[in-house]
Amino acid sequence: MSRPKAEPVIRIDDERFRATEWRFAPGAETGWHRHDHDYVVVPLADGTLRLEESGGGSREAPLKRHLPYSRPLGVEHNVINAGDAPLAFLEVEAVGGVLAAGRHAVMERFAAAWNARDLDALMACMAEACAFHAAAGQGASGAVHQGREAVRAAYGAIFETFPEARWTDPRHSISGDVGLPRWRFVGIDRAGAPVEVDGCDVLTFEEGGTLIALKDTYRKARS
Ligand code: NI
Repeated sequence: MSRPKAEPVIRIDDERFRATEWRFAPGAETGWHRHDHDYVVVPLADGTLRLEESGGGSREAPLKRHLPYSRPLGVEHNVINAGDAPLAFLEVEAVGGVLAAGRHAVMERFAAAWNARDLDALMACMAEACAFHAAAGQGASGAVHQGREAVRAAYGAIFETFPEARWTDPRHSISGDVGLPRWRFVGIDRAGAPVEVDGCDVLTFEEGGTLIALKDTYRKARS
């Protein structure tokens, strides 16, 4: 038996959320699909769904208008309007979780690359159009290095300035496009003087991607 297809209408599709209004004629189905994101369903009408689930099971679930429910990623099913009236619900998928996880992974690789003094690995974390605003410099933003070649040279100069350098106890957090690694810098400069100060980077990620467009660095100044 072939069923009519439910009609998806995309209401929001940005880097954080995808909201799809699903409209079902009586007997219509979504077709089999797997959810790659956590999601919330907001019924737009009362009704009854039949859920065909992976493993061969099938069950009916009542929908109550405006009473939402949430499901975790990994759900795999076919969804059918089991009632004899049209039905609709709004499905909101948290697609931003995947982006945040990817950005978090880049922050961890970036931190490891600093401690490994690995310039190639550092630049692999930087976006095509990138910049570095150093902790010190003559301008209000510190020394500004723009473009991949300039950023790479500036990172290399840090390793030359500090023959020994560790960014210890890294703690990473992310909010939207901004990543915030906090660390304690422990090193020895070329004159043999030890340096130990807390600091952080305000990282701006490229729009919709996981690479770093700007590393803006802040360090305590001892006096
Ligand atoms: Ni579904």
